[in-house]
Amino acid sequence: MADPDTRETLLEAVELTREFDGVKALDRFSFKLRRGEVLGLLGANGAGKTTAMHCLLGLTLPSSGQLYAFGQPLHSHRIAILRRSNFSSSYASLPGNLKVWQNLLVFARIYGVAQPKQKIAGLLELLEVSHLSDRLTGQLSAGESTRVNLCKAFLNDPELLMLDEPTASLDPDIADKVRKVVRRLQRERNIGILYTSHNMIDIEEVCDRVIFLHKGRIVAEGSPADIVKRSTEQSLENVFIKIARSGDLENTNGKEPTP
Ligand SMILES: Nc1ncnc2c1ncn2[C@@H]1O[C@H](COP(=O)(O)OP(=O)(O)OP(=O)(O)O)[C@@H](O)[C@H]1O
Ligand SMILES: [Mg+2]
Repeated sequence: MADPDTRETLLEAVELTREFDGVKALDRFSFKLRRGEVLGLLGANGAGKTTAMHCLLGLTLPSSGQLYAFGQPLHSHRIAILRRSNFSSSYASLPGNLKVWQNLLVFARIYGVAQPKQKIAGLLELLEVSHLSDRLTGQLSAGESTRVNLCKAFLNDPELLMLDEPTASLDPDIADKVRKVVRRLQRERNIGILYTSHNMIDIEEVCDRVIFLHKGRIVAEGSPADIVKRSTEQSLENVFIKIARSGDLENTNGKEPTP
């Protein structure tokens, strides 16, 4: 059947499987991310979200399956793909012994950013961390470090962005600002974003579509509102809890879904 979505596919996984010591962290995981779309990856701790991002960044090799970005196989076009992409994680920190501006300058040079100092100053201001520019990165608080990581993620004007829990350690005020900055830049630049969060406010505000993973497999997919409508639950938070506990959107009796 013809694919009704005509937007360019920025990222595609086909039957992506990643095993660790015989256990499948991802199990035949397939999806497409379109240009201009924010796709949320949801699921309990250990569901496979970060593993998926690491495979998509080439940081870990899949056990089987294919990955494509901008229509090219990741394994043979990794450098060209990474130039047009970026990544931020609350749990992967920048070198702590460098000042914030030094770290960002190193990355700006790696990415070949034109006028790197202006670019860095603009991003620090946008994420309201200009006052941290001269601080040692290793001495930042968790929330400060998260915002500096986000500056890094936007340095090369990526077309494709993977954000792994970008609001994890942010206070509600800053989290709200960060969501709005991410959404604004995403719309202005027509970026495709793969986004994870355990905060359903985040997901409902930022994501156009979500995929629920349970033990590395897709158990539900759709817009946040559609998924709630299809379930017997009143909120996305409750859908999340139901899937985390029963392994399925429909399943109410606590059984694992059949393979
Ligand atoms: N390097 C590794 N070696 C062994 N097992 C791993 C490795 N990396 C991940 N795993 C396992 O793979 C599974 C998926 O982990 P992953 O980090 O992808 O989960 P996640 O969905 O990102 O969870 P969280 O919400 O806690 O961040 C977990 O069971 C984890 O223990
Ligand atoms: Mg994770």
